[in-house]
Amino acid sequence: MRALFNVFSGTGNTRKVCLALMEEWKKSGVECKYVEIEKDCEVRDTANFDRMVLGYPVHAFNAPQIVFDFIRRLPESGGNTLVYLVKTSGEPLKFNDGSCAHVFDLLKRKGYKVCGEYHYVMPYNMIFRHSDGMAARMWQAVLRRLPHESAEMLAGKTIPLKKGPARRAVSFLLRIEHPAMPLIGRGFRATDACTGCGKCARGCPQKNITMAGGRPVFGNHCIGCVRCSFGCPQDAIKIGVLNGWRVNGEYDFSGEPAADGEVCRYCRKSYLKYFRGAEKLPLPRDKK
Ligand SMILES: Cc1cc2nc3c(=O)[nH]c(=O)nc-3n(C[C@H](O)[C@H](O)[C@H](O)COP(=O)(O)O)c2cc1C
Ligand code: SF4
Ligand code: SF4
Repeated sequence: MRALFNVFSGTGNTRKVCLALMEEWKKSGVECKYVEIEKDCEVRDTANFDRMVLGYPVHAFNAPQIVFDFIRRLPESGGNTLVYLVKTSGEPLKFNDGSCAHVFDLLKRKGYKVCGEYHYVMPYNMIFRHSDGMAARMWQAVLRRLPHESAEMLAGKTIPLKKGPARRAVSFLLRIEHPAMPLIGRGFRATDACTGCGKCARGCPQKNITMAGGRPVFGNHCIGCVRCSFGCPQDAIKIGVLNGWRVNGEYDFSGEPAADGEVCRYCRKSYLKYFRGAEKLPLPRDKK
């Protein structure tokens, strides 16, 4: 069996989940190809693959613009390839489910068979910073779920997508983020803490940052992935009107998972429900 992973990840969460899924599939003898979605990235002919994973983070109850653009570049027919959506979001709220609606429509119009989606909660890269304990508990939930869910995908299981009218409507309305982000991105600025290292410019998936006079200059094509500000070693990038929601610096997923009493107060009930669902499954031996 051959599998193609087309994955967009702004700050690494979706990449981390999809690479772990790919490792599971490799253990089962699946030949895997991983493509990082970026502006002008390669587009593989899906007809040569039995499975295609489309990975993305939820942005304002949608997939990011770059994912829609990538789907438009895919070949016209999905052939016999079974497609699974794998997404990450910062919270387990049901409106995040609607983010698959337009992705599904675009893929279906092109003749792709979307068999289901898997949604993993990972720490916020914007809005507020989760504790590392929360990040570790989220990651353990992924590790518990993956062996079962990867087997389901390999078996070709069909799972109805949760894209009912209410979720679809919210997702449609918040697609305003797509035309808004290039405007908001124009307001990104580096502070005097910037050392001119160029990491932000090298990493931007939209090639939207150029260096001038040792400082980054932001263009008109931002998609709000926050890779630049999240990854800046000096925390020197202010993200315009969104600056109050800025989160900077990698999470440590390897520590002690947050106990129930340490689960963050925001959406606590939903997080606990999500964790407890995953914790019915055993943690794989090699991950203990
Ligand atoms: C512009 C933007 C919008 C976001 N919107 C949502 C959202 O609607 N719901 C949610 O739960 N998380 C939201 N998040 C959080 C991300 O989905 C979450 O942190 C994700 O795991 C990031 O994945 P990545 O590291 O692969 O980019 C948003 C993040 C950004 C940058
Ligand atoms: S990553 Fe940060 S320090 Fe480096 S050039 Fe960009 S803004 Fe400046
Ligand atoms: S400018 Fe920053 S937030 Fe905008 S697309 Fe580039 S890396 Fe992402």
